Amino acid sequence: MNVRRIEVQTNPPYAVHVGPSALKGVLEVGSQESGIFVLADEKAWSLHSGALAGLESAPRLEIAGGEGAKSMAQLEGVLDALTQSGLSRTSTLITFGGGSISDLGGLAASLFKRGMDVVHCPTTLLAQVDAAIGGKTAINLRLGKNLAGSIHQPRSVFADSEVLRTLPDEEWASGLGEALKTALLGGEDSLSSLEAQSSELAHPGSVAISALVADCVQTKARIVAEDPLEQGPRRVLNLGHTFAHAIEHCAGYGTVPHGVAVSVGISLALEASAAMSVLEDVGLPDRVRKLQEALGLPSSLAELRGLHDLGPEGLRAGLAQDKKGAVGQPEFVLVRSPGDLVLGIGMEDSLLQSLLG
Ligand code: GLY
Repeated sequence: MNVRRIEVQTNPPYAVHVGPSALKGVLEVGSQESGIFVLADEKAWSLHSGALAGLESAPRLEIAGGEGAKSMAQLEGVLDALTQSGLSRTSTLITFGGGSISDLGGLAASLFKRGMDVVHCPTTLLAQVDAAIGGKTAINLRLGKNLAGSIHQPRSVFADSEVLRTLPDEEWASGLGEALKTALLGGEDSLSSLEAQSSELAHPGSVAISALVADCVQTKARIVAEDPLEQGPRRVLNLGHTFAHAIEHCAGYGTVPHGVAVSVGISLALEASAAMSVLEDVGLPDRVRKLQEALGLPSSLAELRGLHDLGPEGLRAGLAQDKKGAVGQPEFVLVRSPGDLVLGIGMEDSLLQSLLG
């Protein structure tokens, strides 16, 4: 696949460049005169800095990726480094890493001198299909994940499939979990095309990946353009996430990869959709379970419980942390059929008990 350009119609609009060697386009950003700064995941930089050849001499901060990057101390470190490098609000911050790096860098860019441009170069599958698109930024607070953040749309995004070749299996699976969610939101065509490619896509580094990333970006771009500030329809992107965050909270953040938790969260949301008589496409749970199996993703809490401590009480405590609903009132996204979702649903205690039991 050649590099595809997908527009996100926010105000102003921006382009997401998807495909092999998409990172060559970043050099254009680097040639601008008002200064650039690179915030890089140290591992991604050591493996793939060659893809950003021409930007080696720009001021750069390398940090470890993962949840540890999303802290107040790291945010201060980035803001200090921007200041020490003499950058201004007309300069551009380029992030190079997974979702934690784009979350941290995006937040720093939204705060530095009241806002500078950010360009994301996502190096994980999860960041290419979700985190780097749509402008959400965040760090974690002592009391919970993603509790401090902003919405700051990037100026452009470069999702290069070449950098995905070195992803560990676990990171690959995590990205496939978010891609499964996005295919369900995209509708029948997206879901069928993921099914058709599933055995090929299960292998890290698959050549079919650029087409999947492009399909996910297109779906997310449509949803974000409709509701950039997440005041309503954008909340469909939280499908599976209320359960997933409870799983991650209970197991300890960073223990269960986010997209893997989302995969189980999708199964629980489908089960709840059936139990609450919302689900119209009754064959969908079985179809999704087969797809999860083909992609190497778990479809039940039982599969995760062999590896992680996920007792019902701990999961309930995790649900109470949900930042999407009113305090202590978790909200869920339910499914009627592919592409047809229902938002803002609360659940009876008895149903939660049987789902998490
Ligand atoms: N990751 C969900 C969103 O961008 O809204």
